[in-house]
Order: sequence, then structure tokens, then C-alpha cells
Amino acid sequence: MVEQKLVIEGGRRLQGEIQIQGAKNSVLPLLAATVLCKGEAVLHNCPRLTDADAAFRILDCLGCKCSREKSVITVNAEQMSNNHVPDALTREMRSSIVFLGAILGRCGHCRWSMPGGCQIGQRPIGFHLYALKRMGVVVENDGGFMDCTAPKGIQGAKISLPFPSVGATENIMLAAVTAKGRTEIHNAAREPEVVDLAEFLNKCGAKVTGAGGSTIVIEGVEKLSGGEHTVIPDRIVTATYMCCAAITRGELLLTKTKHDDLSPVFPIFEKMGCSVYCFDKDRIYVNARKAMVSPGKIVTHVHPGFPTDSQPLLMALTSVLSGTTIFEETIFESRFNHAPELIRLGAKIDVIERVAIVEWVERLSGANVRAFDLRGGAALVTAALACEGVTKISEIHYIDRGYEAIEEVLRSVGANIKRK
Ligand code: UD1
Repeated sequence: MVEQKLVIEGGRRLQGEIQIQGAKNSVLPLLAATVLCKGEAVLHNCPRLTDADAAFRILDCLGCKCSREKSVITVNAEQMSNNHVPDALTREMRSSIVFLGAILGRCGHCRWSMPGGCQIGQRPIGFHLYALKRMGVVVENDGGFMDCTAPKGIQGAKISLPFPSVGATENIMLAAVTAKGRTEIHNAAREPEVVDLAEFLNKCGAKVTGAGGSTIVIEGVEKLSGGEHTVIPDRIVTATYMCCAAITRGELLLTKTKHDDLSPVFPIFEKMGCSVYCFDKDRIYVNARKAMVSPGKIVTHVHPGFPTDSQPLLMALTSVLSGTTIFEETIFESRFNHAPELIRLGAKIDVIERVAIVEWVERLSGANVRAFDLRGGAALVTAALACEGVTKISEIHYIDRGYEAIEEVLRSVGANIKRK
């Protein structure tokens, strides 16, 4: 198949309304959780993403009955017949690792290969394995595969994570809900997607308390039933379109979002002088008609700090704001892959290990650039909207992992963008 590109002619002010998609980082663990359900699980607001398609195929290959009707995915795992996910599927999506806890919870045995995913750092799985071993899982390496077995079933355990890893927290929760006894996760991730997973599991009969805080307690139950749940709105996609509005000095109403989950990014917009108004629980109006300035320093942290996933988008935006912006990346060791591509578009950025210094430039100009990862790719789209001339972005399969029809969404609010 010929690789597609996004072709963007910059310089148009965005104006209008965008309905925010469901969260990629929620739908994946939720789909993994359906493996534990003895009954039908119905998930609403599932975004159409290649990563969600990969999760769907994993379920299919496990022998679960899955169907999709627009944004509703229905999974029935009652007849699940397999506990081995093919190498090609686990490599396709790093977050497939979250299926490991769920399959072990369901079957007590799983054969797994090392996961793939974005090139934003080493992305090891040591915390996941450490936790599963504490829960009675024996892991043996066998020619690039891990053979994971719980000879006495999964046991509840006290687990203190060395770092509040999102994926490890979710994996432990999935393994623990039907384990024998009580599991405590200390130093747990507090991200909204972890809370969403806990809510779905509880709807299916699990006993999970404390999600959203640093200690999560799970009392194992015999089995989970089915359940119905709506995936939370994607906070990173919301931040992306806020940046697109800001960089084009436009004005956008973002609907079906959740402003509580964006509280770490609002202060940055305020410092930049971009007007952001929150209405009801789920609408955000962004108006960037006034001149904006650099917000100074942005340091990424775990939730409720400034999210690492929003860093590339803000880097694109701040490259055209007066003043110097300093980014410090504390979560992933190589998350500035987008910087050299932004430089091709005319940005002035110096990267020194985990710090990037962005100096104001008067204008960006279109060029051929390449996405290296999901959010870095979206940062190139954001920058291209403000470029003079045409930008062609290649390797857009990264962007399709997390953004539902990005070109249609942006075209609907006035951007000149095509997929070719
Ligand atoms: C999730 C998100 C991703 C986001 C990240 C941080 C999903 C599908 N992806 O990724 O979009 O950027 O959280 O908010 O939800 N680490 C280890 N050993 C481990 C696990 C993690 O050293 O076993 C390190 C990682 O290298 C990284 C840090 O912990 O430096 C955070 O990783 P983690 O929170 O696990 O990120 P993911 O769950 O992979």
C-alpha cells in the first residue's frame, strides 16, 4: 500500500465547533478488561483508531465475540478459547501489554512477546512483571517470548510501584480484580484513564477503591459480570485542538470533553494570554484573538502535573510565541523527536538531553516533514496550520493511532488539510 501523507496549507484561522472523541488511553485498557467479563460488555464512545482496531483484533484472536456499531463496541468473552496473542499484534501496539494482566486474571496462563509501540524511549515493562510476580505469577523467558503462569492462581498482594506507571497500575488492577484476596497498589498512577478503568470494573462487579489517589485497593471477587460504560473524552486530543486554535489565532468550541481532566494545561494557556472558558461540565471555548506570549517553563509530570503527551503540541505552539520557552521532560528519556522536524519548519529549538529551549521565530514555513511518534506527529500538524505555504507530513500512521480522522475534523473548522 502507498504510504499516505497529510498535506496542509497553513495560514487559516480555525473557527467553529469540534466534538472530542473518546480517549485512546482509556479504550485500550477497557477493551482488555472485557476479557475478564462473563457476560456482555458494551463500551460507548469508542474512537475509530488503528490502536483500538488492534485491540479489537487481539480480542478476536482470543476467541471473544466482538462487534462494532459506529462508536459502540460489544464484547462477549464467555467463549474465550485462547490465551496466546500473536507476536505481530503485540508488536503493533505497545499498550497491548495491558492484556497480559487481564488474560492472566482470566486464564492463569499466558504466552507473551515483548510489546512494540512509539519510539519515545525504552518503555520497559519491569514494573509490570515485578508486580505480577508478587501476585504469584512465574515468568520464564523462552526465545523472545515470556511464559507467564500462576501455578496457584493469582494472589492478592501489597505492591509498591517504584514509579506511578499508568500501564503497570492498570495491569495490576486487571490481574487483581478476580485474584484471591486483597491487593494494594501503593504509588499508583492517578491518571483519569485509571479512574475510568476502575469505574468500568466496578460496574461489572469488581471491588476497586481509591482510583485517582496514590493507593488503590482491590478486593478480589469470584467473577465479573458484563457491564455497560461510556469511554471518557480524550484529554490529549482536547489539548491538541486547543493548541490548533491558539496557533492559528482562531476560536474553537470543544464539546463532549471534560474540563476537570484538563486542569494541568489550563494554567499554561492562561500564562500565554489565550482565553479559555469552561461551560457546563463538558464544553471548552478557546479564543486566541489576542497576542500571546511564551508561558516560560513547562515541566512534564505524572497526573495531576502537566502531561508528557501534551508537551510536543505546546512545543509547536510556543515556537511562534514571543519569548523563550523551556521544556523539561521528566517522564520519557527521548521525547523530543518532533524538535528536528519543527526546526525544518523554521522553529528555533535547542535540545540538551531532557531539556528543550524554544526561541520565538516570526514565522514558520511549509516543508516536508516526518512523524516519528503519535503526539510528535500531531505537533507537526499543529505547526503546519501556522506555516506559510504547504507542509507534507509522512509516516502519518503514527497519528492515526490516536486521532480519529484528524483531517476531517480540522477541515470542518476551516483548515486546508488533505490526506493524499
Ligand atoms: C501511558 C500512556 C502514554 C503516556 C504515559 C505517561 C497509554 C496507552 N499510554 O503509557 O500515552 O505518555 O502513560 O503518562 O495509556 N517505566 C519503567 N518500567 C515499567 C513501566 C514504565 O521504567 O515497567 C517508566 C517508563 O519508561 C516511563 C515512565 O515509567 O519513563 C512512565 O511510563 P508509564 O506511565 O508506564 O507509561 P505507559 O503506561 O507506557
